[in-house]
Amino acid sequence: MNQLEILRESLGQCDEIILDALLMRNRIVEEIMAYKEANNLQILQPEQEAKQKEWLHRRLKEKRHQAEVEAVFDSIIKNSKKIQARKLFDYNIVLIGFMGAGKSTISSYLRDMFAMDVVEMDQVIAEKEGMSISDIFEMYGEEYFRDAETNLLIEMQSQTNVVISCGGGVPMRERNVVEMKKNGKVVLLTAKPETILDRVKDNHDRPLLENNKNVPFIAELMGKRREKYEAAADIIIETDGKSKLEICEEIIQKLLEE
Ligand code: S3P
Repeated sequence: MNQLEILRESLGQCDEIILDALLMRNRIVEEIMAYKEANNLQILQPEQEAKQKEWLHRRLKEKRHQAEVEAVFDSIIKNSKKIQARKLFDYNIVLIGFMGAGKSTISSYLRDMFAMDVVEMDQVIAEKEGMSISDIFEMYGEEYFRDAETNLLIEMQSQTNVVISCGGGVPMRERNVVEMKKNGKVVLLTAKPETILDRVKDNHDRPLLENNKNVPFIAELMGKRREKYEAAADIIIETDGKSKLEICEEIIQKLLEE
């Protein structure tokens, strides 16, 4: 064997070790998830991830290729999260609720925690149409926008394990609820009108609220929508005064009980 062949063989041996370690790691990740489920333990433990990161940082100090190795570990952690998410949810998680109920915030937290893909319906529609939601309402009217929502929900049926963050009006159409339930579990997020006002007051991309940013208006519109929201929901989560972590943990526990 010449020198090059010897080096390649050594590299192959390294890859074997990495491969075996990864397969073992993934098995352990699944076992941890099963243990947490079986013992009713908290599923999300972000402090554990922080500990891992800190360990890696310490171990890599003054080593070569620090950034490259860190990138590999980032990818390992991300894929572990995906394995966990797929084990927990073999369907889409559909978040519904009034404007400002926390759908986008919770979606992005679920993305961080489980590396799940997120479909932010308003954003996807705005990108497809090449204009803001307010401009779509103004140029084509609300009905056109509602049709776009229905079409997007139908498109999402070819996927699983995605978080779908619905615009606040999506469950108002019965057809939409039928479509979202075909491969999704529906999570209704609620909040008091005062909390909603506080969350939306500085935003200007909600045409229905633009000139109505006050508690009586919000309470009235919410009242009109409540029945349909509740009828669509598989589970209901109150968000007032809770942290993102608490809300997500409650969602997970309730979905597991479903
Ligand atoms: C709407 C809610 C908005 C957006 C549009 C209409 C509604 O989404 O789809 O302004 O009818 O409640 P968010 O709930 O994400 O703000």
